[in-house]
Amino acid sequence: MSENSLIDAARQYHSGTKHSYLSVRLHPHALDWENKPLLFKIYPTMEVTRLPRDFQDTGKPALSAIAAAGVEPKGEAVPDLETLAQVLFFSAGVTKSRKHGEGETFFRAAACTGALYEIELYVVCSDLRSKIQLSGSPPALPAGVYHFGAAEFGLRQLRAGDCRQALITAAGDDPAVAHAPVIIICTGTYWRNAWKYRSRTYRHFGWDNGTILANCLAISGAMGLPTRVITGFIDPQVNTLLDLDTKREVSFSIVPVGWTQLVPPSPPAIEPLALPVVPYSAKEVDYASMRKIHEASSLDSVAEVIAWRGKTPGNEMAPAKETTSALLSLSDSRIPPDTIEQVISRRGSTRQFSRDPITMAELSTMLDRATRGIPADFIDPPGSHLNDLYLIVNNVIGLAAGAYVYHWDEKFLEPLKRGEFRDKAGYLGLEQQIPADAAVDIFFLADLKKILERYGNRGYRAAQLEAGILGGKLYLAAYAQKLGCSGLTFYDDDVASFFSPHARGKSAIFLIALGRSALRKSESSRR
Ligand SMILES: Cc1cc2nc3c(=O)[nH]c(=O)nc-3n(C[C@H](O)[C@H](O)[C@H](O)COP(=O)(O)O)c2cc1C
Repeated sequence: MSENSLIDAARQYHSGTKHSYLSVRLHPHALDWENKPLLFKIYPTMEVTRLPRDFQDTGKPALSAIAAAGVEPKGEAVPDLETLAQVLFFSAGVTKSRKHGEGETFFRAAACTGALYEIELYVVCSDLRSKIQLSGSPPALPAGVYHFGAAEFGLRQLRAGDCRQALITAAGDDPAVAHAPVIIICTGTYWRNAWKYRSRTYRHFGWDNGTILANCLAISGAMGLPTRVITGFIDPQVNTLLDLDTKREVSFSIVPVGWTQLVPPSPPAIEPLALPVVPYSAKEVDYASMRKIHEASSLDSVAEVIAWRGKTPGNEMAPAKETTSALLSLSDSRIPPDTIEQVISRRGSTRQFSRDPITMAELSTMLDRATRGIPADFIDPPGSHLNDLYLIVNNVIGLAAGAYVYHWDEKFLEPLKRGEFRDKAGYLGLEQQIPADAAVDIFFLADLKKILERYGNRGYRAAQLEAGILGGKLYLAAYAQKLGCSGLTFYDDDVASFFSPHARGKSAIFLIALGRSALRKSESSRR
């Protein structure tokens, strides 16, 4: 029996990392600022190839870009170096920096728990040309395996030669991987996030990888490139290709970008690289429970990879008992024209909400555009999903305050209880002010029993990742409408109890707050 099917591992990890009113008091965690990890992975001996950053805006409205559930391949779609640079920048590049005291924080295109940016990106590609390349000249980026250096916005070549075939084998000949000229691999580095969040970091791998993927899907789609999220692969083969020290860093998802009918050559021998890496901190703490759930959710054979794909368990929801509120989403002709690049560039996390209302049309547009589907190997049939969305509505014009569940397929909100729940929302969101002040809080809950029975422990990765992707789409849908948004953490069991009996048996996976930023309000009143 494979370890992936011994699903007590995921159950134990999930229960062992729950937050509660008591747990945060019984196990407080003081941050060791002297030992704060470096936020970039640096290969000090490897030369960097800087990426071009004179991007051509796609002109694609952000709300259309996030709504698209994938681009069908229609012939050769091989990104050039400029296109790859644009995909990487708007997925995980440094978009802003803020000086404070002695230091400076570099914020990235996608939101990340604690701004610790523990997800690293690698690129495995064929020869790529440049837009300005003369015919007959050598490729602008030779085939190889590269690490994406967000700090210098560049690539460092870890291996020379076309290694895509190694990934195609690892992904069990997945057709999207098999036809991709470029494959992005996302990894999670434990300590970079565990410094603050200890063993809960493994959940954050899914969330923080998910927000990057939401951006990546949107920008790639806007550039006309077929893209897909692949989570079924033989972990040791992918980790070996990147030569990861798997006690510290592990592959989490892979994203084939583009389409070509040219079959890649056999890969060169995949020898160990043993490249030096600058240590993240003077000392690291190893949280064994995370390595345990990672190993227990790893796949070791092609048969396991093939069994992993598709066949998403259904989310049968009882028919609505009460009067429902249909979504009032904006039609495409009325959505704000701000492009995906403009919206990602101005995205941030709202630190304070104003308590002002948003409209039912704004809420509907966010829900509708964010839930039109994710092209992922664990989603089949298209449009199916692992998480259910439950809402606390604090202040939405046209929708009574209260708790709701979203009927995803029929696109309506069913009221579960009416009333004013601002204080409750603040409590459920780890006693923070953000969810109490937001106009709406969206809680993601999943039937982990059903998911683990279908997929094994790896279903746990998929549930967290899907929540992160949907959360990332909601971030962009909010900022596209000049609203605010923040991901949040929560008191697990209290969330499930609050939405029960409807949510009985489900587990809290993620939380996001949406509304109007207090800062934007004070800025506009000063003008
Ligand atoms: C999954 C997720 C959970 C988060 N949880 C919290 C939270 O509990 N409290 C909070 O103040 N911010 C939270 N944030 C916001 C991050 O602190 C923020 O993304 C990070 O500081 C980077 O800043 P930026 O989003 O403005 O680029 C969360 C973000 C994400 C993506």
